[in-house]
Amino acid sequence: MSTPLLRPPGFGWRESAPGVLELYAEQTRAAELAARFGTPLYCYSGRAITSRFRAFNRAFRGAPHTICYSVKANSNLAILRLLGTMGSGFDVVSGGELARVLRAWPGAARKVVFSGVGKTAGEIDAALRAGILLFNAESESEVERLAARAAGLKKRASIALRVNPDIPAETHPYIATGMREHKFGIAMSAAPAALALAASSRWLRVAGLSVHIGSQILESGAFAAALERVSCLARDLRSPLYRLRYLDAGGGLGIPYQDPETEVQFAERCRQYAEAVMRPLRNLKLRLLLEPGRAIIGPAGILITRVLYRKTNGRKSFLVVDAAMNDLLRPSLYGARHEIVPAVWRPGGASELFDVVGPICESGDFLARDRQLPEVAEGELLAILDAGAYGMSLASNYNTRPRAAEVLVSGSKPRLVRRRERVRDLYAQEFL
Ligand code: LLP
Repeated sequence: MSTPLLRPPGFGWRESAPGVLELYAEQTRAAELAARFGTPLYCYSGRAITSRFRAFNRAFRGAPHTICYSVKANSNLAILRLLGTMGSGFDVVSGGELARVLRAWPGAARKVVFSGVGKTAGEIDAALRAGILLFNAESESEVERLAARAAGLKKRASIALRVNPDIPAETHPYIATGMREHKFGIAMSAAPAALALAASSRWLRVAGLSVHIGSQILESGAFAAALERVSCLARDLRSPLYRLRYLDAGGGLGIPYQDPETEVQFAERCRQYAEAVMRPLRNLKLRLLLEPGRAIIGPAGILITRVLYRKTNGRKSFLVVDAAMNDLLRPSLYGARHEIVPAVWRPGGASELFDVVGPICESGDFLARDRQLPEVAEGELLAILDAGAYGMSLASNYNTRPRAAEVLVSGSKPRLVRRRERVRDLYAQEFL
């Protein structure tokens, strides 16, 4: 029997007995991880992260560039450190994310870009003190705030203007960001005035433009269209007052949640994406900054969960598992579809239509609906795939549920990189 692909190179099947496949994270059995660390459990593959980062980086080798991994996708310190060791910079959107990056990878500040529509004075000050590479400013008021804080601390700041290219992107409406009805960026027509304002402060160095049209975008045409607009603007903006050095192309490259993708196929998709981004920028002599999140970490993580109960109500069959919407919000919030596989699988065996649901007291608490899954018994394990990005980073304590533990596997060595919260951690900040 040839073993079907799962999520190479991190997660795959191995035949443990004739006709029986077991789920492995690199060289480690998923079942062993669950037994040792408990469930629900986020499990990441170091090899997958490394391979994906390298493929992405290689795709841009034709242009001077810096990858600034988007911390919001997964902010675990061990993952930030692993990326830091590979030369990654970081895209942060809060003082909290900045603090994580500085903790994980001392010296990272000179490769940090700070994005976001609502930076507070305290967050700006922390980033100025750290000496980050670039602030991506999103409004004239923010430019003024940046100038005032920089003057107060006597620290010169480099800023790029995030423009809104008014380009639609095919993705869930909650995560499309590049149209004028969205809160993000400054209208292209208002950019010259905002840059002139920034250039009038001696504490600000106008250094570039940035754009981010959304997330989970699989079609590279929208990236090309956005970059086309921004590169026209960059050409028009030549001014004696400043010199643009950076073009931050944001993140957004999607992943195929429904299908396995080989390392070669991913490398090819990166190449196409890089082509779409780089072509409009030819001859502009700008350093490209890239902020991928999901493309690096999404398929490099799974969420392992145990079946607590099976039940049938009317015509519906449910698998009640120990992970819930507080652990993985994407299905509930975006109607996202994540593949689910059993940790032990007998291909060709019986299957049934299930809703996979968590213990939370809302009907919106589901991980999959109407999903054809192999027969699984109570007590058995399931793995939810492509959960590395926006899984743990969106997790909450709703229903006073401790957040899951996280392990990072390298070969046959699993390392606990976040311990499971205890219930008493959850009310430790409260007063009676
Ligand atoms: N740069 C900026 C300015 C961003 O706003 C984002 C994502 C990224 C980079 C990284 O995008 P990526 O390469 O990961 O697509 N929670 C949602 C995704 C929200 C994305 C927010 N911004 C989800 O689970 O699909």
